[in-house]
Amino acid sequence: SPELATTFLEQPLDNPLMNAAGVWCTLAAQLDALVESSAGAAVTKSCTLSRRDGNPEPRYRALPLGSINSMGLPNEGHVYYLDYAACHDYERKPLFVSVSGLSLDDNLTIVAALREAVLPAFLELNLSCPNVEGKPQPGYDFEAMDQFLAEVATAYRRPFGVKLPPYFDFVHFDNAAEILNRYDNLAFITCINSIGNGLVIDTESESTVIRPKDGFGGLGGDYVLPTALANVNAFHRRCPGKTIIGCGGVSTGEHVFQHLLAGATLVQVGTALHEEGPSIFDRLQKELRELMAKKGYTRIEDFRGRLKTL
Ligand code: DOR
Repeated sequence: SPELATTFLEQPLDNPLMNAAGVWCTLAAQLDALVESSAGAAVTKSCTLSRRDGNPEPRYRALPLGSINSMGLPNEGHVYYLDYAACHDYERKPLFVSVSGLSLDDNLTIVAALREAVLPAFLELNLSCPNVEGKPQPGYDFEAMDQFLAEVATAYRRPFGVKLPPYFDFVHFDNAAEILNRYDNLAFITCINSIGNGLVIDTESESTVIRPKDGFGGLGGDYVLPTALANVNAFHRRCPGKTIIGCGGVSTGEHVFQHLLAGATLVQVGTALHEEGPSIFDRLQKELRELMAKKGYTRIEDFRGRLKTL
C-alpha cells in the first residue's frame, strides 16, 4: 500500500493531512480529538490577545457546494492556546499555533509570548481573516503586510509561516511573493483562507443566511477549490525556498492529490472537517492511497509538485 509519511520543515509526519485553522480547534477537547485522530498534524484556532465571543449567530451555514462563515474570531485568548501548546506531545504529531492579533502590536505581544515559551510548535500568522468589522485583511494591503512581516520576522527570529487570503491577479501573486521572499525565516505559506465576503441568499425566505455584516462572509468548500489550487501553485512557482501548505475545497482524496500535485507539502481540511468530524482523516487517507495505487505511485514525492501544463 502506498506510503503517506512525509516531512515538514525537517519534522516527520505520518501523513500530510491536518485541520484548517478555525475548524475543530477552539477548545482543548476539540484539539484533543484532532490529536487522537489520524490527522498528521493539527493547528489551533486563530487567537487574539484576549478571549472573544465573536460575531452574533447564526454565523456559519453549510451549503450544497461548501460553506459561508462570519465567525469573527471567537477564541479563548492567546494564553489558552499557549498553555495547550505547552502540554502537547510533539512526538505524537506536530502542532501549529495560529495567531491573528487585531493589531500589529497585539501580534508582536503574542509572538513574543510564543517565542519565550520555547516550544517546538509552528507559528502560522493569519494575515487573512475577512470577518472582523473595521479590520481589513493585512494580506490585501501589501504595505501593511510587509510591515507586519518585517516586525514579526525580526521579533520571532525562528521559522514561521503565514496564512494568506486568495489572490486573483498575477500582479498580486507577483507582488505578494516578492514581499514574502524578502524574509528568510518565513518558512511556509498557507494558501488559502476563505474567499472573503461572499453573499449567499436563500430564495424562499428572500434573506441572507448568516447574521453578521448583512450576510457577507467567507466561502469555503467546493466553491473555492480551483482558487485554492491556483494560489498553491502560484506561490509554489514563485517561492522555491518556501514550503506550501494547501487549504481550500478538500473533501476527497482526489482533492488532496490535486493540492499535492500543485505543490503543497501539507493539506488542510476546513468545511469538510466541520461537516464530517475528525474521522474524515481516515477516509481521505484511504481515498488518497487508492488513487496513488491506481496510478502506480508508492510515495508522495513521486508526484508532489509535478503538475503538468499543456
Ligand atoms: O473564514 C475565516 N473565518 N477565516 C479566518 O481567518 C477567521 C474565521 C473567523 O473567525 O471569522
